[in-house]
Amino acid sequence: MSVRLRKVEHEDSARLLEWRNSPDVSAFMYTDHRIGQAEHDRWFAAALTAEDRRYWIIEMDGRPVGLANLTRIDPIVRRCDWAYYLADPSTRGRGVGAQVEYIVLRHVFETMNFNKLWCEVLKENEAVWKLHESFGFRREAEYREHVCKGGRFQDVVGLGMLKADWAGARPAVEARLREKGIDPAALPDAP
Ligand SMILES: CC(C)(COP(=O)(O)OP(=O)(O)OC[C@H]1O[C@@H](n2cnc3c(N)ncnc32)[C@H](O)[C@@H]1OP(=O)(O)O)[C@@H](O)C(=O)NCCC(=O)NCCS
Repeated sequence: MSVRLRKVEHEDSARLLEWRNSPDVSAFMYTDHRIGQAEHDRWFAAALTAEDRRYWIIEMDGRPVGLANLTRIDPIVRRCDWAYYLADPSTRGRGVGAQVEYIVLRHVFETMNFNKLWCEVLKENEAVWKLHESFGFRREAEYREHVCKGGRFQDVVGLGMLKADWAGARPAVEARLREKGIDPAALPDAP
């Protein structure tokens, strides 16, 4: 199975709206109202053109299966935040996420030469914040009742990784990928 990231293109617009509105994805996002065409179009135009963000389609064996992004890219502080999802639950739990996480970390700290990557995860999405921690992210914040989903307040965990953390974590991360039969050197950089 091969995994790569490619830039989001105009043709991805309808697919992204469908993914984002599906309960399999919206369950993990901060908002879960149904997104209409006009709201999506505004978001999509900025996703393609704004300089402070970068959106990639995750491809598994050449098939689009998810979305990964960097946002709030700050070249002065050399910091950005990120998120990603696999849209179809049948593609989850098969090692795609681990490869995406590796590609993004290597891209941010080595290609972009940034100093910090951070993200936020719903506290009850324990599998995901543990996944991030297993790649070297540290918990830096816990925001109580930070979002309201389905009429219920939920806590959010803030995680961060520094360039120095990545240098320390990288050998073990690569060894873990190799144990799963994945050659990290063969994973293409994000464009
Ligand atoms: C989060 C997500 C991208 C992970 O991708 P994935 O392809 O499922 O993850 P992988 O198969 O590469 O697994 C990586 C590791 O995480 C663990 N993991 C992933 N999902 C898990 C789950 N639901 N429960 C327990 N462990 C899980 C795997 O066991 C694996 O651990 P290991 O390295 O010790 O074997 C994917 O599950 C997803 O899209 N989830 C819904 C959206 C989401 O939560 N996005 C994050 C919002 S911040």
